[in-house]
Amino acid sequence: MYVIVGATGNTGRVVAEQLLAEGREVRAWVRSEARGADLAEAGASLAVVDVEDDASVRAGFEGARAAYLMLPPPDYSKDGFLATRARIAKRLVDGAVAAGLEHVVLLSSIGAQHPEGTGVIRSLHHTEELLRASAIPATFLRPAYFVENWGSVLPAAQGDGVLPQMLGDATAPVPMVATRDIGRAAARALLEGPSAAGVIELEGPTRPSPVDIAASVASILGRPVAPIDVPFDAQVATLQSFGMSQDVASLFNEMNRGIAAGHVTFDGSGTHERGETDATTVLRALLNA
Ligand SMILES: NC(=O)c1ccc[n+]([C@@H]2O[C@H](COP(=O)([O-])OP(=O)(O)OC[C@H]3O[C@@H](n4cnc5c(N)ncnc54)[C@H](OP(=O)(O)O)[C@@H]3O)[C@@H](O)[C@H]2O)c1
Repeated sequence: MYVIVGATGNTGRVVAEQLLAEGREVRAWVRSEARGADLAEAGASLAVVDVEDDASVRAGFEGARAAYLMLPPPDYSKDGFLATRARIAKRLVDGAVAAGLEHVVLLSSIGAQHPEGTGVIRSLHHTEELLRASAIPATFLRPAYFVENWGSVLPAAQGDGVLPQMLGDATAPVPMVATRDIGRAAARALLEGPSAAGVIELEGPTRPSPVDIAASVASILGRPVAPIDVPFDAQVATLQSFGMSQDVASLFNEMNRGIAAGHVTFDGSGTHERGETDATTVLRALLNA
């Protein structure tokens, strides 16, 4: 039986659907049964688990053979991002060890090979380290920047015809990937079991720049859309104005600087895969177009 953490999220839902389609037994972790009704209908059993609660995490892993692990995004308005994620990571790894899992696939990230200079991704480096120190065979899935991240600035494109972007040079190509392709890659990794490489780097079919993303959005909306640079020095204040804590805003700023500097990058450890979903397909879905 496969445990899927975050089974109602972008990637977890796809992992669960893919495993069910292969006839595998799936236990979907949900925060409420109502949120997982469609997964239950498709054949998954549901476990109501809060990753902040030891007992439900332990019970959620009981009897499982393998698991898809991800760290749910915490409340961005609160400080203490790295400490919160470290606490959750430890609880998940301890639970997986106690259940004697044969394999886990961790949703990690591009750049997670580095301990520092990667902002929010530092928490995934730490989680990889915890798993390496455990006895559980693990596969680290390191996807690129999610295409879905652009969803937060699409209202500005629809309203004002601008696409705010924080990745530095707007013409520089950035590895990106659709969450659908991440879910598919994770499901494949679970079905194949532990691999010698232990790392899967994943990006989409092309490397679009923010200018390319703006052009795609413009063609979907049928109106001009101009990328607008948010300079690195202005990003913390801008992100705070949208409700992020200083701590979280600073970590996103560090990640953005790391992407622009080529520090948040693939390092060639493990296999390198390409998803099949292009950015325009994702943007069209986000825009309901
Ligand atoms: N964005 C990027 O560019 C990027 C790049 C590389 C890696 N990542 C990683 O990807 C993660 C996000 O993955 P995603 O997009 O698949 O997730 P997502 O769509 O944000 O979904 C989060 C999932 O976690 C569940 N959840 C939230 N809080 C929980 C709690 N306290 N206990 C149990 N479950 C909880 C949610 O349940 P509900 O449906 O009930 O809310 C949902 O199923 C990030 O946290 C990061 O680690 C992101």
